[in-house]
Amino acid sequence: PEETRQLLLSRIRDVADYPEPGVMFKDITPLLADPGAFRALTTALADDCRRMGATKIVGLEARGFILAAPVAVTAGIGFIPVRKAGKLPGATLSQSYELEYGTAEVEVHAEDLAAGDRVAVIDDVLATGGTALAAVELIRRAGAEVAGVSVLMELGFLDGRARLEKMLHGAPLGALLTV
Ligand code: PRP
Ligand code: MG
Repeated sequence: PEETRQLLLSRIRDVADYPEPGVMFKDITPLLADPGAFRALTTALADDCRRMGATKIVGLEARGFILAAPVAVTAGIGFIPVRKAGKLPGATLSQSYELEYGTAEVEVHAEDLAAGDRVAVIDDVLATGGTALAAVELIRRAGAEVAGVSVLMELGFLDGRARLEKMLHGAPLGALLTV
């Protein structure tokens, strides 16, 4: 509801010219430090996951982990980490994606996802959509189904939503805030 949106919005700090000149960084640490706001966020994202009929939650390193872990516990379903390359000890699937400068790579343990799983992807921010798209690719390559993507905020001035929706085949893309 509107009350929750206002609470969340009030706990996100705009930091100008970070990490580089011209960029307005959205700092969620004030939200994380406020247990009422963090709980409201967790509840809202867990509701999204229930509506999607998700059976597993994928969180995206690093900030996505902070949000997705309590959501998974609240929703009563398993948490699966999608990590930046080189951190997972078991057999992995990996997916590279474009950054503004260069490329990055994320990985998931292959055994964590399988046919029959309906997976919700949780992250803090949707910007270009590249990170979320890489996770969607990993989930599908593992044979699982993407139940939807849910984020705290989307940056409305970028084309991340259009880009991601094209690949979601009708699965929902939820954003609690558009900033
Ligand atoms: C940030 C943010 C999202 C991603 C969104 O992660 O947390 O995961 O960028 O951008 P995109 O839609 O253009 O892919 P980043 O990897 O910068 O840092 P983090 O490890 O702190 O999450
Ligand atoms: Mg991130």
